[in-house]
Amino acid sequence: MAPLNVKLILLSITVFISVLPASSIYFDLERSFLQCFSSSLGNPNLTIGVASTQSSSSYNLLLQSFTRNLRFSDSKVPKPNLVVTPKAIYHIQKAVLCAKSSGLQVRVVSGGHDYEGLSYVSNIPYFIIDLVNLRSITIDIHSETAWIEAGATLGEVYYAIANHSKIHGFPAGSCPTVGVGGHLSGGGFGTIFRKYGLAADQIIDAKIVDVNGKLLDRTSMGEDLFWAIRGGGGSSFGVIVAWKVKLVPVPPKVTIFNIPKTIDEGAANIFMKWQTIADKLPGELFLHSVMGVVNSSSSSVGKTVTVSFTALYLGSVDSLLSLMQKNFAELGVQRENCTEMSWIQSVLSFAGFSIDDPLEVLLQRNGTSGRFKAKSDYVTEPIPMIGVDGLWKILLEENSPVLILTPYGARMSEISEYETPFPHRNGSIYGIQYLVYWDSNEETQKHIDWMRKLYAYMEPYVSKDPRAAYLNYIDLDLGVNRGNTTYEEAKVWGLKYFKYNFERLARIKAKVDPSNFFRHEQSIPPLFK
Ligand SMILES: Cc1cc2nc3c(=O)[nH]c(=O)nc-3n(C[C@H](O)[C@H](O)[C@H](O)COP(=O)(O)OP(=O)(O)OC[C@H]3O[C@@H](n4cnc5c(N)ncnc54)[C@H](O)[C@@H]3O)c2cc1C
Ligand SMILES: *[C@@H]1O[C@H](CO)[C@@H](O)[C@H](O)[C@H]1NC(C)=O
Ligand SMILES: *[C@@H]1O[C@H](CO)[C@@H](O)[C@H](O)[C@H]1NC(C)=O
Ligand SMILES: *[C@@H]1O[C@H](CO)[C@@H](O)[C@H](O)[C@H]1NC(C)=O
Ligand SMILES: *[C@@H]1O[C@H](CO)[C@@H](O)[C@H](O)[C@H]1NC(C)=O
Ligand SMILES: *[C@@H]1O[C@H](CO)[C@@H](O)[C@H](O)[C@H]1NC(C)=O
Ligand SMILES: *[C@@H]1O[C@H](CO)[C@@H](O)[C@H](O)[C@H]1NC(C)=O
Ligand SMILES: *[C@@H]1O[C@H](CO)[C@@H](O)[C@H](O)[C@H]1NC(C)=O
Repeated sequence: MAPLNVKLILLSITVFISVLPASSIYFDLERSFLQCFSSSLGNPNLTIGVASTQSSSSYNLLLQSFTRNLRFSDSKVPKPNLVVTPKAIYHIQKAVLCAKSSGLQVRVVSGGHDYEGLSYVSNIPYFIIDLVNLRSITIDIHSETAWIEAGATLGEVYYAIANHSKIHGFPAGSCPTVGVGGHLSGGGFGTIFRKYGLAADQIIDAKIVDVNGKLLDRTSMGEDLFWAIRGGGGSSFGVIVAWKVKLVPVPPKVTIFNIPKTIDEGAANIFMKWQTIADKLPGELFLHSVMGVVNSSSSSVGKTVTVSFTALYLGSVDSLLSLMQKNFAELGVQRENCTEMSWIQSVLSFAGFSIDDPLEVLLQRNGTSGRFKAKSDYVTEPIPMIGVDGLWKILLEENSPVLILTPYGARMSEISEYETPFPHRNGSIYGIQYLVYWDSNEETQKHIDWMRKLYAYMEPYVSKDPRAAYLNYIDLDLGVNRGNTTYEEAKVWGLKYFKYNFERLARIKAKVDPSNFFRHEQSIPPLFK
């Protein structure tokens, strides 16, 4: 369909909405989609159980299963007309083609961890392609590669690898319910990324359904699109069906420790030292710090800041202790604080499980992250003490703030910032993720206001021109794409996520999806000139 027709359909939707009860126009689009979807496959039996409407018994359960941020479960948040759960690739292809002909917008969800709910919420009539049924993982230990379907979770990936080998791993995030569809297309880092790079850096082939419903692989999509989906976000370019990735070697024994320090226990000086060494440690040693607030009777406000220094070391406790003694004696790590274990047990530990739990806990797909708002920053110069002091005062105003400070350096500094769309490489000491959690929707505004205040406070201490941000921690405060947003306007947030890669992404977008069919509030706009 020509770009003009798409625009006309969208225009008529807008016009209809203003004169008709919303439900009837939604219903027309839905009926037209369903007619197309079931008829165009020839045999209607092939679509049975694949599309759930709001009256289907499966609809609410599906919606709940991917609404990971309960902020978007509120009844006031728009809901999809349909959830399509493809059981085969041709279901995705037909869903894309029928979306175009019916005028329903499409959103694609894999693990549902999108921070702004963009994979499952839209303000115009839409349906969701939920890849939950496409999640097979095929490991080839001989070539040290795996084909992973987009609906698989990281936990399923780690489990599958561990089931084949004790000396292979994969460098991706620590939350096992995160989906590979979103995670790998936005970058993806975890406890071994300083040694091996991002999850996206391991991708060697991919399958994607494009705007014309065509199934492409690396050869047929070409190197531009293949580059774009390894950090530029899949949702601007098509529906990712599967990734082929390289596995990485891990030693049979790794070592972890976790040392929390409160302000009284000297957290400030230890944190100041951490800022100067964390990115310079060898790639085998990942040592992040996590700031939070705990109750304290010795403090006048009844609370204190705690900073937890948590490490994963790809090696034995002996060599870890000597590294720590040489580089970070201030932390006072002792042998008793360290635990040797297999790599897959370290995955359990960083996921919050006990290392003695059965590995099958990694296969659980249930669970939410509660209500939360997050933002991100990159730090290129250590934050001075005065800045840290002020930051901690702001943290003490909240009940459940969490700051995760992730050191870069090592392998991350060796990869060029143009290699993939993810530009946060050499020069980033550490990334910050700011998180705040709360319980009820009535409190939402209060906590979001607090988060914005914190973000404003941090400006002098973090990267500038642009003030960088991580796409996988997507943040609509940085600016919203209205659908007709120009490239120049979108640069405000585009440069934050992608730096100079943003222009190349926008040109690739113009080539592969000129009608801007795959879009959301922060999708990449097409740049034609
Ligand atoms: C509790 C929690 C822990 C996290 N931990 C980490 C971490 O350790 N490291 C890290 O790097 N990040 C982490 N993240 C962020 C995570 O990487 C992103 O939220 C990621 O985008 C989630 O992918 P998903 O498939 O689960 O999400 P979804 O919500 O399904 O998708 C996210 C985005 O990708 C798009 N998308 C999803 N699947 C496809 C597909 N098949 N084709 C095209 N587009 C698709 C969606 O449309 C949406 O725009 C964490 C998030 C949470 C909530
Ligand atoms: C669809 O399924 C029904 C019930 O199983 C069967 O009777 C019918 O022949 C099938 N139709 C086609 C076209 O396969
Ligand atoms: C583990 O791997 C074996 C083959 O090595 C396979 O038969 C089995 O199904 C796998 N288990 C799971 C749960 O994937
Ligand atoms: C680290 O080990 C020492 C010595 O056994 C112990 O006193 C201390 O409590 C441990 N710290 C933590 C955080 O476990
Ligand atoms: C901290 O104190 C508050 C209020 O006094 C209380 O509601 C909360 O449960 C306490 N938290 C912990 C972890 O003890
Ligand atoms: C998920 O389900 C399992 C098994 O039913 C249960 O033990 C676990 O507590 C659930 N997890 C969450 C976060 O709800
Ligand atoms: C990273 O940048 C610094 C400063 O520009 C430079 O000295 C160093 O060689 C770079 N590191 C790598 C691995 O390219
Ligand atoms: C974009 O669309 C909005 C409303 O949909 C409209 O108000 C605005 O003028 C449009 N902007 C451009 C540049 O077309």
